[in-house]
Amino acid sequence: MNSMAQEGGGRVVLITGAGQGIGAAIARRFALQGEKLVLVDVNAEQLRLLAESLADTGCEMMQMTADVASKDQVHELVSHVVERFGRLDVLVNNAGIIRDNLISNISEQDWDQVLDVNLKGAFLCCQAVFPTFKQQRSGKIVNIVSRAWLGSIGQANYTASKGGLVSLTRSLALEFARFQVNVNAVAPGAIDSPMTQGLTQEARERLIRMQPTGKMGRVEDIAAAVAFLASEDAEFITGQVLHVDGGKSVGLLSL
Ligand SMILES: NC(=O)c1ccc[n+]([C@@H]2O[C@H](COP(=O)([O-])OP(=O)(O)OC[C@H]3O[C@@H](n4cnc5c(N)ncnc54)[C@H](O)[C@@H]3O)[C@@H](O)[C@H]2O)c1
Repeated sequence: MNSMAQEGGGRVVLITGAGQGIGAAIARRFALQGEKLVLVDVNAEQLRLLAESLADTGCEMMQMTADVASKDQVHELVSHVVERFGRLDVLVNNAGIIRDNLISNISEQDWDQVLDVNLKGAFLCCQAVFPTFKQQRSGKIVNIVSRAWLGSIGQANYTASKGGLVSLTRSLALEFARFQVNVNAVAPGAIDSPMTQGLTQEARERLIRMQPTGKMGRVEDIAAAVAFLASEDAEFITGQVLHVDGGKSVGLLSL
């Protein structure tokens, strides 16, 4: 890693969908490590609240309201970051949405929106940071996918987007390896965040019953995995999917 940005202080970390939930926990984790944060979200108010809540860490941060599905906004965002910090060390593609339904009821709009944010958004961000990473000969990308990429009823649009993101992760890992850039994915299982808090009580209870551990994971569990994959300890790991799901991806429960 370039000596200008040693791990555990001073690396520039860009997190999309940072405004709440898993993204906000990732932001706190990196803030406590002493990194410089670029917090990106479509929701400006959420970003403001997050920045307030991180004030106690004393970290340097920059908030940017942007839609990851917009090529212009993503490229403008990355130019601002490079202009301000002169470098970028870590990209976490966390922004994601769900529009769950059985296949017959998925509208074309729900299909397009989910694919646009979850898959195209990550593609645009990877593409935008690549010239900087290539020039630095260093960089870490962590894509937040989902355990659901393995298959999930009522989530065809979501699982297709996350499965696509796994394939993007693997292809870019190969393409970027020669530039010392690592590309990995974290696949959360059911995590207690605003996304799952938005489910009906019945759907939440059903989800919990389906977990081998009998409970949801915490947003901090995902942040810890992201911090590991973005660290020097993971230098020789690329193109991998780390499932952080309490064992859900291992197999069916049959008791
Ligand atoms: N919560 C879970 O159980 C769970 C499980 C598996 C995977 N995930 C994945 O983890 C990631 C974060 O999930 P979460 O639970 O924190 O969700 P969340 O809905 O609580 O937060 C997502 C954040 O992304 C932002 N966002 C949405 N669209 C955006 C866009 N176009 N551009 C920029 N920002 C945008 C939202 O404003 C929000 O702040 C997502 O990619 C999600 O698919 C979550």
